[in-house]
Amino acid sequence: MKTKLPPGPRMPALLQTLGTWTRPIASLERGRARYGKRFTVRALRQPPFVVLSDPEDIREVFMSPPEVLHPGEGARILEPIVGRNSVILLDESPHLEQRKLMLPAFHGERMERLADLMMELAEREVEMWPTDEEIELHPRLQNLTLEIVLRAVFGLEQGARLDALREVLTKLLRFSENPLSLIPLPEGLMAGRGPVGEMEAVTAEADGMIFALIEERRKTGAQGAEDVLALLLAAEHEDGSPMSDAELRDELMTALVAGHETTASQLAWAFTLLVHQPRELARLVAEIDAGEEEAYLTASIQEVMRCRPVLINAEPRLVKQPVRIGGVDYPPGVVLLCNAYLVHHDPEVYPQPYAFRPERFLERAPGTYTWLPFGGGRRRCLGASFAMLEMKLVLRAVLQRYELLPVGERPETARRRSITISPAQGARVILRERSGTQLDAQVAQRRAGVPAAA
Ligand code: HEM
Repeated sequence: MKTKLPPGPRMPALLQTLGTWTRPIASLERGRARYGKRFTVRALRQPPFVVLSDPEDIREVFMSPPEVLHPGEGARILEPIVGRNSVILLDESPHLEQRKLMLPAFHGERMERLADLMMELAEREVEMWPTDEEIELHPRLQNLTLEIVLRAVFGLEQGARLDALREVLTKLLRFSENPLSLIPLPEGLMAGRGPVGEMEAVTAEADGMIFALIEERRKTGAQGAEDVLALLLAAEHEDGSPMSDAELRDELMTALVAGHETTASQLAWAFTLLVHQPRELARLVAEIDAGEEEAYLTASIQEVMRCRPVLINAEPRLVKQPVRIGGVDYPPGVVLLCNAYLVHHDPEVYPQPYAFRPERFLERAPGTYTWLPFGGGRRRCLGASFAMLEMKLVLRAVLQRYELLPVGERPETARRRSITISPAQGARVILRERSGTQLDAQVAQRRAGVPAAA
């Protein structure tokens, strides 16, 4: 019986921490080349992390009982923003209960009802993008995914409240991009001063607005609203009680933090990769123009998520009880990281793993333990259907309207921003207006004030 943790780099923790920040993908690949499919890394002021990338290990982690591994505890760093009721921070039965409350609001079929709204927002944003010059798509995609969360999840209509909340939440999200501001400091040390004090003030401002929104929505009722908040307002705990204001606030913030930058970065990768794949891009545009199928669109997104999973790991699973995974015994206190990037680039799992080939997902649907951009098991991303729908609609809106031209010879390298991996130069491309497509008529109609067909 093995009792030691798997071997791993022996560099000092500080260098290991810097390495994973500055060259996230290279340091992972070096780890795997040297130590194989599981290895231990040590970061500053952190417990040991064991990086796992054997699909069988991943399966055993995802299937482990809820009292053995605690993903919620492993994600504590998010608490100042998402709040302590957030589904992402809970474990065992409180997690299950919260997740059950939220599942119907994120169900795939429900999401379809948000499609028209998402499409309208996508087209409106995309129309404004400059053409025939180098632009960064990533910040524009961030604007768009923020707008989509605020309208489709928070249920805000255009107007002063949307503008005010957009402004304060943008400030708040900036703190989550700066990981130092999230490191919990000893109580009292920074209170009222420095980044933490500032973040508390902005959070309080955002909370005031969100609680006012919740109160108003409780009064007015759903009135046929399709947004996620409407469904959460109708959800009931097992004892029949509704979700509290604090729970609603925390889950709205969770959707914002979990769903905004992830989707924006994933879309940024989609454009960065596709623009350098003329054959695959042409096939995708042909399918979109034909307007009936979306198999290649789906497969292309799946392939983008395989090549560049924006969260390279699922939520870190903190070991609470001794557990054997893949024949190795892990003691409490160790953290297990299911690493999507390494599984996705394992030649035993994906032949020619570095080639961009959406066709592989036309031939075979993504596997539960081999395609991990949304994590898995009982913690799998709640917003997966929401994000897939959103990414399809945004890709379609852009590719219907513009031809994509590359900047530079090859796709951008990866840079780490807060918890996601995104294109280092902001996803630079040149857009060129297409003409004579079906879209012109739709846009002309909307500009003339005719509502989009249902
Ligand atoms: C491309 C976009 C997205 C990616 C790549 C992504 C990825 C992930 C991943 C890897 C996890 C952790 C799963 C695990 O540990 O097993 C997760 C959890 C979660 N995601 Fe997403 N996500 C995306 C979009 C969204 C959106 C749009 C929302 C909501 C509107 C959302 C809400 C959540 C929530 C609530 C959880 C926590 C689930 C739990 O702990 O039970 N995500 N996501």
